[in-house]
Amino acid sequence: MIHHLRAAGTSLILDATGSGTPVIVHWGADLGALTPADLDALAAASVPPVGPSSIDVPLRLSLLPALAEGWSGRPALGGFRVGATAGSRVGLPDGSPAPSGTLDPALTLVAVHKRGDNTLAIELADAHASVTVTTDLELTVQGVLRLRHTVTNTASEAGAGTLELAGLDAILPVPDRAAEILDFTGLWSHERRPQRSTLGQGAWSRESRHGRPGHDDSYLTVAGTAGFGFRSGEVWAVHLAHSGDKRVWAERSALGYAVVGAGELLAPGELSLAAGASYTTPWTVAVYSAAGLDGLSARLHPWIRSWSTITGPRKVLLNTWEAVYFDHDLPTLSRLVDAAAQVGVERFVLDDGWFSGRTDDQRALGDWFVDTAKWPQGLHPLIERVHAAGLDFGLWVEPEMVNPDSDLARAHPDWLLGSASAPTWRGQRVLDLANPDAFAWLLERLTALLAEYPIAYLKWDHNRDLLGGSVHRQTAALYRLIDAVRAAQPGLEIESCASGGGRIDLGILERVDRVWTSDTNDPLERQQIQRYTSVLVPPEYLGGHLGAATAHTTWRTSALGFRLATALFGSAGIEWDLTRASAAELDQIAAWIAIYKERRALLHAGVIVHADASDPALELHGVVATDGASAVFAQVALAAPRTALPAPIRFPGLDRARRYRVRPLLVGPAPQTMQTVPPAWLAAGADELVLSGAVLADVGLPAPLLTPEQAALFTLDAV
Ligand code: DGJ
Repeated sequence: MIHHLRAAGTSLILDATGSGTPVIVHWGADLGALTPADLDALAAASVPPVGPSSIDVPLRLSLLPALAEGWSGRPALGGFRVGATAGSRVGLPDGSPAPSGTLDPALTLVAVHKRGDNTLAIELADAHASVTVTTDLELTVQGVLRLRHTVTNTASEAGAGTLELAGLDAILPVPDRAAEILDFTGLWSHERRPQRSTLGQGAWSRESRHGRPGHDDSYLTVAGTAGFGFRSGEVWAVHLAHSGDKRVWAERSALGYAVVGAGELLAPGELSLAAGASYTTPWTVAVYSAAGLDGLSARLHPWIRSWSTITGPRKVLLNTWEAVYFDHDLPTLSRLVDAAAQVGVERFVLDDGWFSGRTDDQRALGDWFVDTAKWPQGLHPLIERVHAAGLDFGLWVEPEMVNPDSDLARAHPDWLLGSASAPTWRGQRVLDLANPDAFAWLLERLTALLAEYPIAYLKWDHNRDLLGGSVHRQTAALYRLIDAVRAAQPGLEIESCASGGGRIDLGILERVDRVWTSDTNDPLERQQIQRYTSVLVPPEYLGGHLGAATAHTTWRTSALGFRLATALFGSAGIEWDLTRASAAELDQIAAWIAIYKERRALLHAGVIVHADASDPALELHGVVATDGASAVFAQVALAAPRTALPAPIRFPGLDRARRYRVRPLLVGPAPQTMQTVPPAWLAAGADELVLSGAVLADVGLPAPLLTPEQAALFTLDAV
């Protein structure tokens, strides 16, 4: 049968009529309703010719491309079998040759199970190689394609031949016109730097070996038509929903095929499947859009929101890290609580420094007991103060880590992951979570803290690469640990942090309510980091904090208005010693928080949009309500513009037929401009402008002449 999955402008056509692995005939634009006869005709017509110096049959790209099919690109399944002996021990008739050596199964189709309208489970087997593979595949109503494979070693008897798995990946075809690749790299405090390349023949391959995705994570790999942007171009994107090591690639073969692929990066010998054992890959998330990167977000965000753990409005929080670092004491923090309450903060998060012996970042990780020197009565007096001020309380932890200088490491040197001779990182080592004793101890410590104190929120940090041990086992154990903590404390919110944005992926996102987007609070850096992180992850997850005027990461000084305008578009917070802020600054912050509270329902549920500006110094981004009734936009000057008069601001994503009232929205002091006369529509009294969505999108409005590192905000409300 030929299966046609359709949703939200996307089609996937799978030809399962043959005896082998089903062939992917099409993944891309919706092809409309096709009759069975249409599908037969399409599948038959898509069979390619046989070229010279080639295999003697047409090569059609299957769901699991393999050497045995004639595919000489990177195969979907790789491994080898060790220790097999002949005959029935591997489930074969007596006397038949035993499978051994390289695994290159010739899979045959056993069955395709339809689990729902757009959900298939495809069963494949190779009796001779003693493996089965099941592929789960779903095209969600939002147009997001997810797939994963499960391989089982079907040898019938223990010891009959272990399967050493080298890799099992999802591979999807992209058309010839997907000639340009966008993916991401980055550094600490500079995550999500976009990089573009042309996909020539060969593979553009990215690997993460950090034991976490890392600051340079490829994040989302997008293949698209030449010059694709936020609003234009056809794009095919893949992401692996996994927080451990991984590989993601795009490959154009000299045979004429192009693919994108993704899978967990397994170390040699890391995954041995004994007889009867299985391995299920993480989900690969794949999205097509004919409307550029914003089109990808328009599918990904509603899908993520359909399963998100976020239940209520994103509270404005104050995090103590850049305010006090390790200097914890009740009087200092009480003053900070009061200042936070005064401006309207709703959550107080006590960052690193609260636990036994933690005087700096070189010691005590692992000793998850409240430090009695700093907190003689425990955290109770602080939490009471926080509650009395009307806020809830959050606490920082870094459960996977341990300092050699800690009671835990001294008591349990056998709980450490990796080689003892490998370098420490920030003075720390990693706890082996796959060790049941270490796991149980951590679970006990975390749940004991949660039982003793009314903690609404954990900031769960992870500040080093693993550099050893089994990342596969560690990642699985981490997921189990988070799941167990959440189960023990229903309603608890968790923020994922990894030295900022080193662990942001859709595997962790299933388990957390917020991600710390980056350690930098510098708004200029943040504009870029938030812009690209939000292509995949909806803005309500992306922690963005108002920091001190001079950023602690770049030493750049920024205006309050620019800092406020930047932190508004995410899960907003403050990370600044408010006791040092002036009365005027506190007033501005309070007004900003009031605007955030008023608008967060829109900011956190709307559709994110970006203009493709001709001038890279000027960026327009915004959020439009899903019903098109309102929007908030920010025109951001990153640097000096190319022209004295920049191009008009054209507002994308509005309902073209509706009329909108456009008003400037002031957060903090007015943005600095260099203009003798402002644009007429922004001049005093001219803020009652009403124009149609079509006019605002196609003609636009003259931009104010912002000086570098300034942002002007606008609200648009349908009348
Ligand atoms: C790294 C995080 O990214 C920071 O926000 C802070 O929590 C520190 N760790 C604390 O050690």
